[in-house]
Amino acid sequence: MGLQITPSILNADFSRLGEEVARIPSADMIHVDVMDNHFVPNLTFGPTMVEALARSTDTPLDAHLMIEDPDRHAPGYVEAGCASVTFHVEAAKAPVRLAREIRAQGGRASMALKPATPIEPYEDLLPELDMLLVMTVEPGFGGQRFLDLCLPKIRRARALLQRHGIETWLQVDGGVSLETIERCAEAGADVFVAGSAVYSAEDPDAMVNALRETAARALG
Ligand code: DX5
Ligand code: ZN
Repeated sequence: MGLQITPSILNADFSRLGEEVARIPSADMIHVDVMDNHFVPNLTFGPTMVEALARSTDTPLDAHLMIEDPDRHAPGYVEAGCASVTFHVEAAKAPVRLAREIRAQGGRASMALKPATPIEPYEDLLPELDMLLVMTVEPGFGGQRFLDLCLPKIRRARALLQRHGIETWLQVDGGVSLETIERCAEAGADVFVAGSAVYSAEDPDAMVNALRETAARALG
């Protein structure tokens, strides 16, 4: 799998999400930010809305669960039709069991790290994951400034994946734009979430393609 752009709908118009998703046919997946007002100080949507969205598009959904107790709730998002489900390791009680459960249900299992969470303690878990998400802002809101301090962790995560010889994707999320995506690609990310950069663009689909081309250019 090459570079993938997975736009976040957090900055889209929530009153017409189906149409908003239809505006970005070039997206590799649609990144759906689920927030519960506990794990993060913001509230978005739950499995019922995600299920409706899944029915409205052929593009795979990439759920990013910023919620407490993902052990209980995450499998429901595979059932709701998400191709990929990301839980936060800071919230998971049993990340190995949870990743296996997501996979057993037919979803891609993914684990997210907040900016202050190191990757090293989780090295042995990497083979259990289809994707690792390194947050490049504190989760909770779109439109925040990219945190360069996360770049060394992306590099270390890429090195660990190479050492294990596994195909786990490495996703970055937060403040990704035409200005910051090259740094992420150079550091080793291959899946890029972009919310405000895509939905504030005049032509969101052209922005998806511009982001992909800019990331590819960074890799030469
Ligand atoms: C932040 C979310 C992100 C974010 C992306 O908590 O997980 O997906 O909204 O939006 P931008 O690209 O605007 O940072
Ligand atoms: Zn997200």
